[in-house]
Amino acid sequence: MPAISRQTIEEVRSRMDILDVVSDFVSLKRAGNQYKALSPFTNEKTPSFYVVPSKGIFKDFSSGKGGDAITFVMEHEGMSYPEAIRYLAKKYGIEIKEEAGTLTDETTQERESLFIVMNFAKNYFHDLLFRHEEGIAVGLSYFRERGFTDTTIEKFELGYSLDAWNHFEEHALKNGFSREILEKAGLIVPREGKSGYDRFRGRVIFPVHNLSGKVIAFGARILKQDADKQQPKYINSPETEIYKKSQVLYGLFQARNEIRKQDFCYLVEGYTDVLSLHQAGIENVVASSGTALTEEQIRLIRRFTNNITVLFDGDEAGVRAALRGIDMILRGDLNVRVVLLPDGEDPDSFARKNSTTVLRQFLSENSQDFITFKVNLYREEAQRDPIKKAQAIREIVTSIAVMPDPVKRSVYIKETCRHLDVSENVLLTELNKILIQERRKKQERLAEPEVEPVPSVAVSDTFIERTQALAIQQLQERETIRLLVNYAEAQYEDEYGKHQVKENILQEIEGVTFSNPLYREIIELYRKAAETDEAIDSYYLLNNGSEEVKKLVAELLTVRYSISTHWRDKYHIYIPHESEELSGVTLKNILSLKFWLLQEMIESNITAWKKTETEKPHDLVAIDTYMTVHDQLKLAQREIADALGIVVQR
Ligand code: GTP
Ligand code: MN
Repeated sequence: MPAISRQTIEEVRSRMDILDVVSDFVSLKRAGNQYKALSPFTNEKTPSFYVVPSKGIFKDFSSGKGGDAITFVMEHEGMSYPEAIRYLAKKYGIEIKEEAGTLTDETTQERESLFIVMNFAKNYFHDLLFRHEEGIAVGLSYFRERGFTDTTIEKFELGYSLDAWNHFEEHALKNGFSREILEKAGLIVPREGKSGYDRFRGRVIFPVHNLSGKVIAFGARILKQDADKQQPKYINSPETEIYKKSQVLYGLFQARNEIRKQDFCYLVEGYTDVLSLHQAGIENVVASSGTALTEEQIRLIRRFTNNITVLFDGDEAGVRAALRGIDMILRGDLNVRVVLLPDGEDPDSFARKNSTTVLRQFLSENSQDFITFKVNLYREEAQRDPIKKAQAIREIVTSIAVMPDPVKRSVYIKETCRHLDVSENVLLTELNKILIQERRKKQERLAEPEVEPVPSVAVSDTFIERTQALAIQQLQERETIRLLVNYAEAQYEDEYGKHQVKENILQEIEGVTFSNPLYREIIELYRKAAETDEAIDSYYLLNNGSEEVKKLVAELLTVRYSISTHWRDKYHIYIPHESEELSGVTLKNILSLKFWLLQEMIESNITAWKKTETEKPHDLVAIDTYMTVHDQLKLAQREIADALGIVVQR
């Protein structure tokens, strides 16, 4: 397959602008000479996603992802390298030149080939629907019977697969596709010893698109359910290199703009539900394809909106389904509303039976907030029966407890106590019980080796005491100052360009308060000099510093550390060899320093957290903040441990 020419890649690299690229997907806020936002990769509440335009990079502390504009597009859109280059080339109006080279690696090439063969198959199925006798007589007339217009058929690129064993395979082989790639794409099913057969036969075809509109899978519906009870109603493509079922929502490609515009999204179950709603002019709709929503799918929706309205069948099974699946969505910090359709109807049948006006009116009049829905469901029972009431409270509070936002929790608790006629305290007690259970589970998970970087002062290791943590931190501070004093004006180069040691250190330790006042004094001198662009080296300090600073600088200039290797290995204090690359040295040093500073912060946060828990157990917002801060500090620490190459088991 032709690869994108090096020249094109270089042109893209020189033209792309990280701020511009990221802004297409994330709304950024300026913070000094950086920009920040909520991570588009996780469900966080406090922004830890940064863009640094001067370096052309992004960094996401909550997921650990980072890199340049190309990496961002790859990560965010789930694209391969060449796909990302093509995307950026299109964005900047750069012509794509190709060459027969082997620039791309194997998986990239495989992904590209899969996209090509899936596109080929999509066109084949689609053409049959309009051009082949059987396709027209069987497939097209089926869609017509169900009331789908040509516009809908075209928009979703629907198709038909002939009722024959190898028609597609032969057609694809004739067109130069190998059996191997057809198998990998899940389009043919291999059989041991014998030749394979087409996976989709005698079915109508629903292509599944990724976010950039490429076909990555097919769903295929049998025509007459009664004719063959042995056969499943729908069959789907198997998972492939380009199709991960749990990360895809049917219809999102066609719905994305409308979801953004309306700032909410309908969630339905099936392919035909999506189609019928579109046809009725409701385009902000996606389908989970018959299964419970996954965390990844929720994150996908969150890229476009925070509001989701789930449509259910109004019968008992539908109500039960509503109660089951939704805590998962609340956990993802989405606002959930539900609509119960009339008994026995799914969105497809309901949309077909009613005019667009009636449909729209029904949806808007019958959509209710999920917690309100739950409260109403239990209210009557609860008023008659005190045991049922206790159950109802537990049911409702369980849903409230999964909401990550404490402010929202608080609002819903108030709301619930009004409607169920119970005191707020009863609900809060129940809520805290559940939250404590949850947190204990979470902490057990956190305490596992997963986050056991260097011996943590707070846990386990008997040898290291708090005082020692402080001592280590001071040694690391001293090492940072030593680098500053020795190499302030030195330059080094890495993948992001040229840097000065001084500039790098000062930038990295911004906001960090050193425990030793002498160190603070030295840093202050460097900062002042940096403001006036004055060069400052060790001689400057020897001439201008206080007596103590002079003494210290002299010492740092001459004396190397003689720290015991035991300490060094055990606590990962980084003592550089002068011969090592300066960039690595400064970075590692700073990271080690930050690691121990974080340890300090984690401990004081835990102390404050415990105190609030005993003294103000009802202050949900405060307790939640401590929890969040704790998680973030731990995460930051793990990130640093990773960067330092400290063995962390995940
Ligand atoms: P119609 O019967 O054509 O209206 O389809 P539907 O979308 O209403 O189907 P249904 O409500 O029965 O199922 C909802 C979704 O579940 C479908 O769109 C499919 O994604 C999925 N589904 C249904 N039946 C099957 C099956 O037999 N196998 C698999 N894998 N998925 C199914
Ligand atoms: Mn249906």
